[in-house]
Amino acid sequence: MRKENLQTTALLLTGVVCLVIIMKKNDFKNDVTLKSKDIYVMLHQQNNLSSFETLQHSFSHCHRNMSAYNVTGFSTLPNHIQDFLLYKHCRSFPMLLDVPNKCGRPQNSADVFLLLVIKSSPENYDRREVLRKTWAKERLHKGVWIRRVFITGTSKTGFEKHRLNKLLKLENSENQDILQWDFNDSFFNLTLKQIVFLEWMERWCPHVRFLLNGDDDIFANTFNMVEYLQGQKDNDGSKHLFAGHLIQNVGPIRQSSSKYFVPVQIQESERYPPYCGGGGFLLSGFTAKTIYNMSHSIDLLPIDDVYMGMCLEKAGLKPTSHFGVRTAGLHVPTGNVDKFHPCFYREIILVHRFLPHMIFVMWKDKFHVQKLNRVCDYF
Ligand SMILES: *[C@@H]1O[C@H](CO)[C@@H](O)[C@H](O)[C@H]1NC(C)=O
Ligand SMILES: *[C@@H]1O[C@H](CO)[C@@H](O)[C@H](O)[C@H]1NC(C)=O
Ligand SMILES: *[C@@H]1O[C@H](CO)[C@@H](O)[C@H](O)[C@H]1NC(C)=O
Ligand SMILES: *[C@@H]1O[C@H](CO)[C@@H](O)[C@H](O)[C@H]1NC(C)=O
Ligand SMILES: *[C@@H]1O[C@H](CO)[C@@H](O)[C@H](O)[C@H]1NC(C)=O
Repeated sequence: MRKENLQTTALLLTGVVCLVIIMKKNDFKNDVTLKSKDIYVMLHQQNNLSSFETLQHSFSHCHRNMSAYNVTGFSTLPNHIQDFLLYKHCRSFPMLLDVPNKCGRPQNSADVFLLLVIKSSPENYDRREVLRKTWAKERLHKGVWIRRVFITGTSKTGFEKHRLNKLLKLENSENQDILQWDFNDSFFNLTLKQIVFLEWMERWCPHVRFLLNGDDDIFANTFNMVEYLQGQKDNDGSKHLFAGHLIQNVGPIRQSSSKYFVPVQIQESERYPPYCGGGGFLLSGFTAKTIYNMSHSIDLLPIDDVYMGMCLEKAGLKPTSHFGVRTAGLHVPTGNVDKFHPCFYREIILVHRFLPHMIFVMWKDKFHVQKLNRVCDYF
């Protein structure tokens, strides 16, 4: 009996030593500082060493489209564009994490008034944590439910991929708010991410009334949002609504150095339809379903917000501009003023690009805005 215990202890110790060596090799080569996401995973692994799972080498079952190699100038295109052309027909990937009861039962999903659908990459642990306790907190506001999901793929390979997947799994067991699919969470796979989400929504949350679709580095005033949506004439989500920062009369960027580079091999036309900047936009359940329906017959374009615009156009629907959505940032007068002053954000429902700590401060400030209203008039 005691011998066995000793053996187990010895085995465990060997495991710990191996793990430390492995982590030393993998982590600390170039990067000596531990990030909070790593600490989170390590703390949880301590009690759980024996269940250290074998690495998942999950591969998707979708094969390369070999004809893409025959496309004119293929070999001169940047790697991520080549990848896009080779795999753009792949639209179905296994789910690694799911929250099927996010909206209650599908037939009761109309109880969710606003579903926050936040595009996040596995490594963005800090952003998700701050959103969970600020604007994306699940709650009942003015008699209606706000719910939250993060949509994500996978990052990196081998141990690193495994560790990030573990992180998401831990987060999901604490918060039940992560949908993860087994594809590379890259910029050019964002359209794919949107489509697999819409497919998920049709299955599990078909009657959700409204959705906010956006990035994990935005500040969204979800209180103002609910009030705006409740103020709509038909506020049950069954009519068309697609509102955000409207972008019109633009076309593909043809400079290969740009993040948004779209060569003629992907799209020949010089025109993009009107669309709303992907940092964040609001849409109704009806419009989400229509976009998904249209997507079946439209080739993927890697720029996800433009793709939404294409689906709308095909359905004969138009995106609209909302004054309070500032995905290009907010213009604040120069001079000796605090650009995070709550007075600048009174009428705003969404602003892009904030660091987690600023989101936290702004959210706490918000509660004083009511009192500040008089002050702000003279601001
Ligand atoms: C690529 O082009 C070559 C030459 O035209 C042709 O023989 C081959 O079948 C093509 N391959 C594919 C996969 O379309
Ligand atoms: C494969 O690529 C070729 C060339 O771009 C394209 O014409 C064809 O439609 C693609 N096939 C699929 C299944 O996407
Ligand atoms: C994911 O895509 C990015 C951008 O194309 C690429 O740099 C990276 O190597 C890819 N990762 C994997 C695991 O394929
Ligand atoms: C999208 O994800 C798939 C599956 O991981 C991958 O094969 C493909 O290269 C990715 N596409 C891009 C453009 O990153
Ligand atoms: C989806 O499209 C099909 C035709 O492709 C149509 O029959 C169906 O009514 C559409 N559904 C919705 C909700 O628009």
